[in-house]
This record gives sequence, C-alpha cells and structure tokens, in this order.
Amino acid sequence: MSVVVIGSANLDLVYEVERIPAPGETVLSRGLASFPGGKGNNQAIAAARAGAETRFIAALGDDAAADALAEQARDAGITLLARRVEAPTGTAVIFVDRKGENSIVVNSGANAHLVDLTEAELAEIAAADVMVVQLETPLPTVTAAIRAARAADTTVVLNAAPSGAFPEELLSEVDILIVNEHEAAELAGEPAGTGERSLMSVLTSHGCDVVITLGSEGAFVGGHGTEPVKIPSFPVEVKDTTGAGDVFVGAFAASLDRTADQRSLVAATEFATAASALAVQRKGAGPSIPTLDEVRKLQAS
Ligand code: RIB
Repeated sequence: MSVVVIGSANLDLVYEVERIPAPGETVLSRGLASFPGGKGNNQAIAAARAGAETRFIAALGDDAAADALAEQARDAGITLLARRVEAPTGTAVIFVDRKGENSIVVNSGANAHLVDLTEAELAEIAAADVMVVQLETPLPTVTAAIRAARAADTTVVLNAAPSGAFPEELLSEVDILIVNEHEAAELAGEPAGTGERSLMSVLTSHGCDVVITLGSEGAFVGGHGTEPVKIPSFPVEVKDTTGAGDVFVGAFAASLDRTADQRSLVAATEFATAASALAVQRKGAGPSIPTLDEVRKLQAS
C-alpha cells in the first residue's frame, strides 16, 4: 500500500504537569521534553511504521527544528517532500497531566505556507493508493488535495482535526472520514454529547465512510449502507494520549486495502485501534508510534 500524507510537522514541547492549568493559574512542570510531532508528521510516521510506502508533503522552516524533523522522518523510512520556507518550523506546546490527558497549543509557522500545491506534489497524490489529510494545513490546500486525489482515484482519508475548519458539504468528496466524538459533533453541527449513532448517521449521509474514535472505548465504524460496527479497544495503562489519534489515522491508512469495502474498513479499524492502544502507553507523539510487528503481536495476544 502506498500512502501520501499532506500535513503539518511540528516540534512538540511537552510539559508534564500534575493537572492542566485553569485560566489565570500558574502550575509548576515536573519536566520538559521535546519530540517530533504535528498531526501530518505523526500520521506519516505511523503509516511508515505500519509497513506502508509513505511520502510526506510538508512545509518546514529554515532552522534547527526543521533539520531535526527531517532527520527523524528519514529514520522512520518516510520519503519527505518538504518545502523550506522563510518562517519558523511549526511548534506545539503540550501539557500532559498525571492521567495522560493533554492540552495543546500549536504555532503553525511554516505549516501555514503549505499552499498552492505544485505539479510535482499533485503528481505524488495521483500516484498514491491512499491520501491522508488533516486540518493543521490551510483549507484551500486541503480542498485542492482532496480534489486532485478524487480525480486520480486515490482513496481520500480525511482526519478532520483539529475541529472547526471543514465545510460539511465537502464531505461528499471524501472517501473515509476519521474523527473523535468532539470533532464528529462539531462537523455534524450537533451539540456536544450527541450519541455516536446519531453522529454516524448525519456524517455518512454525505456518502463517505466514517470512523468515530472513542478513546479507551475503541472506535465506531460505519458506511456502505450497512449497520455501524463498534470495535473495542485494549485495556492498557495510559501514560500519554498525545498523538494517539494520529497513530490511529496513519495505521488505518497503511492497512486499508484498495477495495476499501466494509470488511476492509473494519479490519483497518481493528489494526488502528491496536496501534493507538500501544501509543498511549508511551510518552511523546513521534516516539510512541508502534511498528507493524508490535501491532500484530498485540492483536494476536
Ligand atoms: O495530535 C497531536 C499533535 O497535535 C501534536 O504532535 C502536536 O504537534 C499537534 O499537531
């Protein structure tokens, strides 16, 4: 399976805190570490570690963070197709609390310059089996990438994260939508707390298949006019949930087969659920991403 990911690359600055500070509050951190991150970068690494031939179209600055991210992408076996632009490489400040939950602020920096896809970048999209996009990249770029993929019969996987920027009507041009419950409600224009069955029915009405990730509860997968299926997760000790959703998306894309039928969607969701269960047991986004062997071992256990 060949996967092309178009998206963000960030340097993550991770502060370990007892609890996430409330507005106006100061808390002391127990430690600070930096890791490769960015939703696009994490998803590309996850796809590559899951065995897919992976290309990553991104924008990096001209700074030390960019060099570090490029080296880490190479080490992960990704073909990195990065523009170097005159802006700082994207960064994310992340607070991780004692339960492993996080709060993230992203400074897009160079990621905001991933605009006007070149002929070479469009050709990469057309040549891939699956294209993965998320929403830390300017919306016109996401839209152009989706349209180029559709025209070339490349399967479009949209991870509508972070929520807020994607017009619902464009879902008709997406093959598979992956969202968490919060993102699903936002995209469907429903109040927070709406049940996953209702959200599934609104989102699949646009003609795309939909996977709603449910954290420790697993995932809910629907589409193809069939009854949605709930895939349970694995009972694990959570250290850090940062990037677990990205691991899900990358692993999902890598394990999807060309038919992308209901059976393939369910199998890819099971594989992705196992991959993210491994990721939450480790610290950091980039370093937590499991290999194909690790995922298979957990699935066989
Ligand atoms: O999904 C986690 C990612 O979100 C982090 O790696 C951070 O960089 C932000 O993009």
